[in-house]
Amino acid sequence: MSIHSMRKTYTMGGLSEKDVDSDPLVQFQRWFGEAELADLPDWVEINAMTVSTSTRSGAVSSRILLLKGIENGRFLFYTNYLSAKGEDLADNPVASLCFYWPHLQRQVRVEGKVTKTSRQQSEDYFHSRPRESQLGANVSEQSTVVTADQLDARMKELQQTFEGKEVPCPEHWGGYAVEPMKIEFWQGRPSRLHDRILYQRDVGNWNIVRLAP
Ligand SMILES: Cc1cc2nc3c(=O)[nH]c(=O)nc-3n(C[C@H](O)[C@H](O)[C@H](O)COP(=O)(O)O)c2cc1C
Repeated sequence: MSIHSMRKTYTMGGLSEKDVDSDPLVQFQRWFGEAELADLPDWVEINAMTVSTSTRSGAVSSRILLLKGIENGRFLFYTNYLSAKGEDLADNPVASLCFYWPHLQRQVRVEGKVTKTSRQQSEDYFHSRPRESQLGANVSEQSTVVTADQLDARMKELQQTFEGKEVPCPEHWGGYAVEPMKIEFWQGRPSRLHDRILYQRDVGNWNIVRLAP
């Protein structure tokens, strides 16, 4: 099928200002729970999200990351602080997260300020990961140019170095927490008259408005 003729009609549901929770985090948990409950193939990762960052001068980049929790109203993910996204966030600590759950014809967008998680929290999460992932985080200088042979050699070297020992969490590896200033819930509707409910933070409260589709 040609790309220009690809289209779907969205008929799975609606979203009204009257039905949403007054707290967008509760609303997010509700939708996340529904996305999770759906009968999905094993390979679907509903916690996968597109994360966009930008340099101070406005060069934007996006990539998929995994949401690893929501704590105190903040969305958590883990990565290499020296990666391209880490450099962006050091320079310009804001990010946009975008979840797409096609099986429910839903999208959620989150925008907010980004801070690093505590060292303890990063280490705790690091040590909860499979050993191979812990080694991988030590091997990879994420976002730098490398050859496959260099990666293999470094992996073998570190497997030997840490044999029978705990794999350390690198100083440059850890979590980020996104404190939302805006969260938008989008539900696909027929005739492209989609429902868009936007929460905006306003001095400790959340204002709720509907946006035109
Ligand atoms: C499904 C999926 C999940 C991913 N999860 C993560 C993650 O949680 N942390 C991470 O650093 N990279 C993750 N990646 C890799 C990133 O998309 C990206 O390649 C990497 O973080 C380097 O990005 P950067 O060069 O923009 O910093 C994931 C990729 C995919 C496709």
